[in-house]
Amino acid sequence: MGEGGSQIDSVMQETRLFPPPGEFSKHAKIKNLAEYQELWERARRNPAEFWADIARSELHWFEPFTTALVWREPNAEWFVGGKTNASYNCLDAHLLQGRGDRTAIIWEGEPGDEVRWTYRQLHEQVCKFANVLTSLGIECGDVVSIYMPLVPELVVAMLACARIGAVHSVIFAGFSAEAVAERNRDADAKLQITADGGWRRGKVLPLKGTVDEALDKSPCVQKCVVLKRTNNPVSMRAGRDYWWHELMEDASHDCPALPVDSENTLFILYTSGSTGKPKGIRHTTAGYNIYVKKTFEWVFDHREEDIYWCTADCGWITGHSYVVYGPLSAGAQILLYEGAPNHPAEDRFWALIEKYRVNILYTAPTAIRAFIKWGDEHVEKHDLSSLRLLGTVGEGINPEAWMWYHEKIGGGRCPIVDTWWQTETGGIMMSPLPGAIATKPGSCTLPLPGIVPAIVDEQGSPVPENHGGWLVMTHPWPGMLRGIWGDDARYREQYWSKVPHCYLAGDNARRDPDGYYWIMGRIDDVLNVSGHRLSTIEIESALVSHPAVAEAAAVGRPDELKGEAVAVFVVLRSGEPTESLKSELRQHVRKEIGALAQPDDIRFTNSLPKTRSGKIMRRLLRDIAAGRATVGDTSTLEDYTILAQIRGDQE
Ligand code: PRX
Repeated sequence: MGEGGSQIDSVMQETRLFPPPGEFSKHAKIKNLAEYQELWERARRNPAEFWADIARSELHWFEPFTTALVWREPNAEWFVGGKTNASYNCLDAHLLQGRGDRTAIIWEGEPGDEVRWTYRQLHEQVCKFANVLTSLGIECGDVVSIYMPLVPELVVAMLACARIGAVHSVIFAGFSAEAVAERNRDADAKLQITADGGWRRGKVLPLKGTVDEALDKSPCVQKCVVLKRTNNPVSMRAGRDYWWHELMEDASHDCPALPVDSENTLFILYTSGSTGKPKGIRHTTAGYNIYVKKTFEWVFDHREEDIYWCTADCGWITGHSYVVYGPLSAGAQILLYEGAPNHPAEDRFWALIEKYRVNILYTAPTAIRAFIKWGDEHVEKHDLSSLRLLGTVGEGINPEAWMWYHEKIGGGRCPIVDTWWQTETGGIMMSPLPGAIATKPGSCTLPLPGIVPAIVDEQGSPVPENHGGWLVMTHPWPGMLRGIWGDDARYREQYWSKVPHCYLAGDNARRDPDGYYWIMGRIDDVLNVSGHRLSTIEIESALVSHPAVAEAAAVGRPDELKGEAVAVFVVLRSGEPTESLKSELRQHVRKEIGALAQPDDIRFTNSLPKTRSGKIMRRLLRDIAAGRATVGDTSTLEDYTILAQIRGDQE
């Protein structure tokens, strides 16, 4: 949802209320509103003690912690003095409880191949690969860059890093060589893990080729492990590149998990900010681990027999928290699917749900909008009666899409958990608890226990009910980011400087008279395309790196399928504003950043609207891109005639 977008109005009129189904509540862990409120109050009274009790009993401790929380704003340390290991909590803990034969992963590749691993088998793979990493010289604290398709070995790679205290940086396999190189350099990554390719819509994504180009530009990476997935020919550089299967052949499966400090970095994950450089969001071990485990259990009301499917890729935070660390710590049986939702046909997701009798489906509004567009006939072909709970994440869900999801996919019987959170928050912050909290289409409802949000104005004062304002968090929580990799000043500036003593989420929100939260979109210039954050400045920098471009501005415009589409305004240095230049610029952005960031609209103009201090007024360009009349304050605009010019240029 864009700032001031019309969708905000339609959300405001939403009055439908869906109480938890009685049958669902009866079996749920948290059964009614009173139980939720009791838990939330208990956490609010003493958050540190609340989390300490949970962490003590639900994680394995090689050494117990002595202090639950040391808070020196903006730096939090949770479970200080303790030693644990996230890979141990995800694997060994279950083996010790006699649950080694339980299914951990059911995976289906896009071509239809299948892998099933029990917790014991996953443990063995992880131990072997952890030994491989050690044999390649990786030690506790080293950064390992992972650029892989969604295959079980991706999970193995992540957990193997965690096992030896190495830090993983997973980069979504849709990013370009430039983007991989930039992230590798920023992280000072030592090792790259990739695959020959991955399957997407029947075609091979040539991942190794992209990595070869990236490694030329990120010399900090000395070695590269390549998984054979698609069998396409790749070049292997002697002394640098190794085949996964060859290294695994000789690896021992004996690899005890290394006890690491609670605050040992578990991973960094790059996300877009409002300035050009992507931010390496840093998460640590114990706090993150307990937060994703507990929130997974609460929000998905996880039961022993469930088959759980989160459709996110591990290249995003949702994959880290609710494909890998949360569910596996909780001993869940997870489904993974490698490919596209419309391959070989538009019913692939529903076929998978029917085949594997999936009980919980967690997906993104952008996917739901695509399914609606593809037509109900694809859904109706399949038996979806195994589903008992649905979830969404990544952006706001339009109430009508919510209703479709509820009726067509959930058969009217499944609660929907609309989960609000961020890469930075580590785990879900606000969401219905499905057995306890009535849902309203389009609202993420109430904060989870231990989370105390507020909505404030630019002075930091709380705003009245139903008024939009900045969403902030007033207390630290265990899953919170511990900083931006290598940039403490930016961390403080971005999240802790605007509202005193509060974490600034960067979203606008309002709270209704029932205390329900409604997210209204980002307050900065970050776009949300298909549930993924893209920075306008990165796209602009990519455009300006083309020789024909003098200046560029990128904005989002509402898009039925993607949430936001990328619209760019380009001032040329040379050349003619032709269709062929447009397609060249599209390709250029694709190469520099990746397909996600490829502009949908390119408009050439003679100049851009700017403030007196020279800042591009993207707010005005957003109106133009959306075809709206310009609203709001234009008093800081340097040259008002430019707007008329840009509009004129469109006609
Ligand atoms: O604007 C919010 C939107 O996605 C942003 C976080 O993006 P990212 O760090 O990429 O993480 C996405 C997956 C957790 C938020 O600041 N967002 C996420 N979930 C929702 C949402 N907006 C509305 N409703 C949601 N449920």
